[in-house]
Amino acid sequence: MTYDFPKRFLWGSATAGHQVEGNNDNSDFWAEEQVEGSPYNEKSGEAIDHYTLYKEDIALMASLGLKVFRFSIEWARIEPEPGRYSQTAINHYRDVLKTCYEHNITPFVAMHHFASPKWLMQFGGWASPDVPDRFAKYCEVVFRELGELIPYVLTMNEVNLPVMLRELFTSIGFIPPVGIGRDAWTAPGWREEAAKLCGATSDQYFTFHMLSDERSLHILRQTHQKARQAIKSIQPNTLVGLSMALSDVQCIQGGEKIAAAKWQSYFSQYLPMIEEDDFFGLQNYTREVYGPNGQVQPDKEAELTQMGYEFYPEGLSNVVRKVAQSISIPIIITEHGIATENDSRRVEFIRKGLAGLQSCLEDGIDIRGYLHWSTFDNYEWNSGYTKQFGLIEVDRTTQKRKVKESARFLGQIAKSSSLVNN
Ligand code: BGC
Repeated sequence: MTYDFPKRFLWGSATAGHQVEGNNDNSDFWAEEQVEGSPYNEKSGEAIDHYTLYKEDIALMASLGLKVFRFSIEWARIEPEPGRYSQTAINHYRDVLKTCYEHNITPFVAMHHFASPKWLMQFGGWASPDVPDRFAKYCEVVFRELGELIPYVLTMNEVNLPVMLRELFTSIGFIPPVGIGRDAWTAPGWREEAAKLCGATSDQYFTFHMLSDERSLHILRQTHQKARQAIKSIQPNTLVGLSMALSDVQCIQGGEKIAAAKWQSYFSQYLPMIEEDDFFGLQNYTREVYGPNGQVQPDKEAELTQMGYEFYPEGLSNVVRKVAQSISIPIIITEHGIATENDSRRVEFIRKGLAGLQSCLEDGIDIRGYLHWSTFDNYEWNSGYTKQFGLIEVDRTTQKRKVKESARFLGQIAKSSSLVNN
């Protein structure tokens, strides 16, 4: 069977600065990686040196047929000290954007993808009431310089991840950053050291991934709205949104209440934030099933990905349908991916995910694009370089790129905007 997607559908893949650029050394994540007892398995270091190799990388994406490139502009590079903006960094990102256009690739930018400048911690990090204005000012500077080159922007990536992490870790009383394991997180001292490296005390230290209580939600909301205002006042035509990580929340008998509460805290409570957005960035990787006693683990026979969660490409369309019941703005899939050594499973994951999207489109749901996570095998936060999410493999000793079958598969679909599902 052949599925035809709308001709103007956005087909592409996604990255984040800290995970691919290398040497994002003015950021809080960098500080966390360096310290004794750090919960990160590996340091990001040079990453895949995309900061140097972006021209070749973008040309490679174009040669595959991909039409859209999602990447983040790193706040820590643009504003290395409070109120001082780096012309070198601005010129760098201008060149990245222009390179996209030279290759007929549409840039899709995130203004924040988890990492923040170290100096922000000296002001109380993301707990500070000043953060919405500081972030809006950073957006304003970027949009004055580069706005006309940015047609789509996410103010922040996965505003709801801190809440998901909190729910996972409440038992140990910490709000950890991305994917941190329980043992590492409780290792003494490292956090104080990370704060020191940021020129702050541990009381002041509050990263993006700690934004999960009521007060934090207010700060997040203000940050998003002020950033959107700043962007729109300079570039009214840029489409602005944010993204959320959304597992397909399911229940078995007796788990209905828990599942409903999860959906409320993962998704519905954020709805007031996005009321005036131009689109919603939906990101899905798997499902979570709840029973009367909480989360039910996958069956013994279930296929698990390298991340330990279930291979469940059907989750994408299930989440799209649920989200579409609550919002009336268009949906763009800003991440959907799988960590696996077996690239044919990635092909299958994409194929099934897209077949699900096609059925949503047939039912009239307004979906505008699909950006796969990730363009490259990259730095998977606390897991270091051990997880393979990429369409393209990278040998980090030589920084050579090697195209996988899944990249060709998605590129082919992008070229024709259709999917042959056999
Ligand atoms: C994040 C990425 C991350 C991916 C895979 C998403 O939550 O936006 O930065 O690498 O999931 O875990």
